[in-house]
Amino acid sequence: MPTLLVLNGPNLNMLGLRQPEVYGRETLADVETLCRGTGAELELSIEFQQTNHEGQMIDWIHQARGRVAGIVINPGAWTHTSVAIHDALIAAEVPVIEVHISNVHRREAFRHHSYVSLVATAVLAGFGTHGYALAIRHFAHLQRTAQGDLP
Ligand code: DQA
Repeated sequence: MPTLLVLNGPNLNMLGLRQPEVYGRETLADVETLCRGTGAELELSIEFQQTNHEGQMIDWIHQARGRVAGIVINPGAWTHTSVAIHDALIAAEVPVIEVHISNVHRREAFRHHSYVSLVATAVLAGFGTHGYALAIRHFAHLQRTAQGDLP
């Protein structure tokens, strides 16, 4: 069974408490349950992680290389700041799907640029936590159709 790594960046441990008008009331534990359920349905093994430490995130991305079939990542604020995570994702050499709970394009200008989108196969923003399930479904679709990166 292929493994899909679902990574969450800083402050996402505060989901449900933090700005519920932006991110909703569901907790990260709810998101994990959703991801595991979706993975089980699609016969994908899900690894689910969250960290507030950029070096830890980079280590997990490196360890994904040659080990997992893909990465779903909500990089949180590192989306807009981290060349290091961008570089790590390239080094991992696995398909990457970027997820944002909120529609970052409807928010402050500093959220409009993503270093991660440059290396992502697909980007979901504004679907709420359902975006994680959609990302996992899309990943399964890519696997089934053996479809590579689209320009
Ligand atoms: C976020 C959007 C980011 O701009 C923000 O820093 C987050 C969460 C989202 O899921 O909508 O922490 O990635």
